[in-house]
Amino acid sequence: MEVIRINGGYPLKGEVRIGGSKNDALAVIPASLLIQGVSVLHNVPHISDVEKLLEILRSMGASANFRSDGALEIDATHISTTETPHDLVRQMRASFNLLGVLLARFGDASVAMPGGCNIGTRPVNFHIKGLESLGAELRFEHGIYNGKAARLKGANLYLEFPSAGATQHLMCAACYAEGETVIENCAQEPEIVNLAHYLNACGGSISGMGTPTITIHGVSSLHPAEFNIIPDRLQVGTYAVAAAITGGNVKIINAYPDHCRPVLSKLQEIGVDVKTSEDGINISRKGRLRATDIKTMPHPGFPTDMQQPFVALLSVAEGTSMVTETVYESRFRYTTELQRMGADIKVEGPTAVISGVPQLTGAPVSCTDLRGGAAIVVAGLAAHGETRVSELDHIDRGYENFVTNLQLLGADIIRTPLETPGRVPLA
Ligand code: UD1
Repeated sequence: MEVIRINGGYPLKGEVRIGGSKNDALAVIPASLLIQGVSVLHNVPHISDVEKLLEILRSMGASANFRSDGALEIDATHISTTETPHDLVRQMRASFNLLGVLLARFGDASVAMPGGCNIGTRPVNFHIKGLESLGAELRFEHGIYNGKAARLKGANLYLEFPSAGATQHLMCAACYAEGETVIENCAQEPEIVNLAHYLNACGGSISGMGTPTITIHGVSSLHPAEFNIIPDRLQVGTYAVAAAITGGNVKIINAYPDHCRPVLSKLQEIGVDVKTSEDGINISRKGRLRATDIKTMPHPGFPTDMQQPFVALLSVAEGTSMVTETVYESRFRYTTELQRMGADIKVEGPTAVISGVPQLTGAPVSCTDLRGGAAIVVAGLAAHGETRVSELDHIDRGYENFVTNLQLLGADIIRTPLETPGRVPLA
């Protein structure tokens, strides 16, 4: 088992380059299974969720390999089975999109009920209702969805909540549905827009992406395309918070400011200096942070995935902040870890009340989920003394080169086997 050890208190300085978006890659890769021929994807992040998804594709007969120039080639011409490897699928929510993709292309699919981060019940009812409206026949037995469909038929779909996953899933399935599909109250995240651009680059006919209503005209075939995964706006937010909490000065390269508006605006509100330029975003802070209130909302509201790093940040702000989670029902488990580090946080239902303290102190802590893990690492960068972070699998799901990037920004941080005695000097 490995741990991250951080000796906090060093202001981060320098430049960090942001890699491809996890959530975009996890939407585009399953969509590539709609296509015969070789798809070429650039800027795919090297994270464990992507590795697992590629393993799923390979086990079904697709080939998926990184080229020497870093591009990912996926050839899904020959799929040997429409039964997905249930043990792997269960481990990640994004793999559930394979149900609609396989039904749309082959009329047959078997996919396990998905897992993912432990942040609430995370049902799939919108996905199922949408696929059934498109004409799929689904049976749920022993934790597995088995589906059959003749050609799917376009339909008018309405999502009770603008679910990112359901929007992506139904958009993919509807590409091969006969006629027109309209998805109302759909998600508007940049990753939804980019998935639509990908499908259109492959010959799909999708409009309205980035608005609450998406229209898809079904086509009979899609062709391969070469395509770019967008930069990860959630990593941008995490490094911005890391720069802010340490009182540093960091330029975040390859960031799209338009994708990060809600986060950048909150940072400015609490006393962080934010400057955007053509090639990135500069984040710096000199004075003490000020408290604020945050409510997570579907895009373009404040992203739920940034709630956790922001609670870490607000735990050292002057005054009392209230952070309300409206997207997931239990996304505050990590606050017990911040409390170990001296944060004063009370969780009451969907709201965390944070009374800022002048200084956090290092402690042994564990990652409870992906973004909760990022939050405690960020807190450790500013804490007095050593923070030892365990359960790193969560962080590996979504952060590429996290420790190395922080080292290059001047943090005293290292990843080591748990039993390594003493501190290891930085390279
Ligand atoms: C995606 C992102 C995740 C982000 C989330 C919200 C990926 C791989 N993950 O997750 O990082 O936190 O969007 O921005 O892209 N819901 C239902 N029924 C459904 C589907 C969703 O009730 O059938 C609920 C969920 O329980 C949750 C809310 O809708 O409360 C939003 O979930 P959703 O947008 O679907 O999240 P994911 O796509 O799983």
